[in-house]
Amino acid sequence: MKQNQNYLLSNTVALIGLMGAGKTTLGRYFAKSLLVDFVDSDDKIVKRAGISIPDIFELSGEQKFRDIEQRVIADILQGSPVILSTGGGAFISPKTREILSNKSVTIWLRAKPETLLSRIDNLHNRPLLAKGDPLLTLTKLANERERYYKRADVIIDTNNLSAKRALRELIFALQERDVLKLEESVPKE
Ligand code: S3P
Repeated sequence: MKQNQNYLLSNTVALIGLMGAGKTTLGRYFAKSLLVDFVDSDDKIVKRAGISIPDIFELSGEQKFRDIEQRVIADILQGSPVILSTGGGAFISPKTREILSNKSVTIWLRAKPETLLSRIDNLHNRPLLAKGDPLLTLTKLANERERYYKRADVIIDTNNLSAKRALRELIFALQERDVLKLEESVPKE
């Protein structure tokens, strides 16, 4: 269990949602604010595979990527509580969804496809957006995936939300679930 002066986080918080939802940007901010570690499962996959995500998709296919993703996320969830940013498809794979649902508090960062696209700075690093019209693809993925993302423990709508407000919503939701506790401060003599 990782501690800081104010908060005690007792379970990993897994951020889920489509590409551009803010899982990495908000995740880093949440982790910094709560003084816990931040882990990005895509970064771990790249480290484990030794090649980029577009290369994994191209050389071995999406299913291979999903297998590595499942193992990496299972490993992360064995460790101490962190803020975890997952890839947009992680919660869609049944086994990975089961692991995340059982071993973390899942937070869906929801946003409209237009908002998502405006936040994606590197389309080339997203194999699913490399071909065709990215807005159409994001809209299609949103329609296909929404029914899974909806199963998250908490939904935060990030369309017009500042990072600060999102943090407040997160803290409220985690405290309500007893996953985040304010530490009692011991008065000095
Ligand atoms: C994917 C999202 C990507 C990455 C991979 C597949 C998806 O992660 O895992 O390109 O299926 O939505 P981000 O959501 O962090 O961009």
